[in-house]
Amino acid sequence: MARAPLPEDTPVIAYAKVCKTYGEGATRFQALTDVDLEIRRGEFVAIMGPSGSGKSTAMNIMGCLDTLTSGSYRFFGTPVESLSQDQCALLRRNYIGFVFQGFNLLRRTSAQENVELPLVYRGQRPVERAQLAQAALAEVGLKGWEHHTSAELSGGQQQRVAIARAIVTEPALLLADEPTGNLDTHRSDEIMQLLVRLNQDRGITVVMVTHETDMAAYADRILHFVDGRLVSDTPTDGIRSLAQNSGGQ
Ligand SMILES: Nc1ncnc2c1ncn2[C@@H]1O[C@H](COP(=O)(O)OP(=O)(O)OP(=O)(O)O)[C@@H](O)[C@H]1O
Ligand SMILES: [Mg+2]
Repeated sequence: MARAPLPEDTPVIAYAKVCKTYGEGATRFQALTDVDLEIRRGEFVAIMGPSGSGKSTAMNIMGCLDTLTSGSYRFFGTPVESLSQDQCALLRRNYIGFVFQGFNLLRRTSAQENVELPLVYRGQRPVERAQLAQAALAEVGLKGWEHHTSAELSGGQQQRVAIARAIVTEPALLLADEPTGNLDTHRSDEIMQLLVRLNQDRGITVVMVTHETDMAAYADRILHFVDGRLVSDTPTDGIRSLAQNSGGQ
């Protein structure tokens, strides 16, 4: 289960002229065109853009859930194109956590068992799994909720369980595709504060797709996609810097 140490100074994500084409012939569609970008360790980056602009495609390639058509993607310096399917699966399992809009939890299964699942895939022993899952649930504010099934939890709580499941393996990179898309404003702010805390305290690099400007303001940089192209890459100095300046409350 040993993981190779990751190089400190190498970008977590480096895209060079990444293109993605879906389908063939008349149904051919170019979802990404010549995307160059770099995301460094410890950054919190938001991806914005209209529906169909390629945000999820760009994120799925980052998470090795999809492959690029041309160009290159280096994850901590390793060209992902050169990896076999098994190596990609290991890379995901060891280094990346995923959070989705729809939470993707097993509904009749307890919060703790949901969070333990990635550790089951890793072959970790039951006692250790339980301890790590309980610690991850406590970290997202769900101490005492371990044995509730996800069907018994609110949307905000379910997303917390999903975040606990994503961080229980101590990933270097957390990818979140519209994590607040199903939540009201209050719950969305709570989830964003949790992501900021994981980014600042645990040093997890976070990349998040969102349609909401208010949520993107929690990031320290916004990448904007239009028609499959990265059209702007802008630093923010909003809520996050306010939180940093408020004296560690
Ligand atoms: N598996 C696929 N097969 C064919 N076309 C696809 C596939 N996945 C995505 N596309 C197309 O690629 C384009 C970009 O899709 P993508 O899901 O990346 O957009 P998005 O920016 O995430 O949009 P949304 O905000 O609606 O989630 C869309 O036009 C979509 O129809
Ligand atoms: Mg999408």
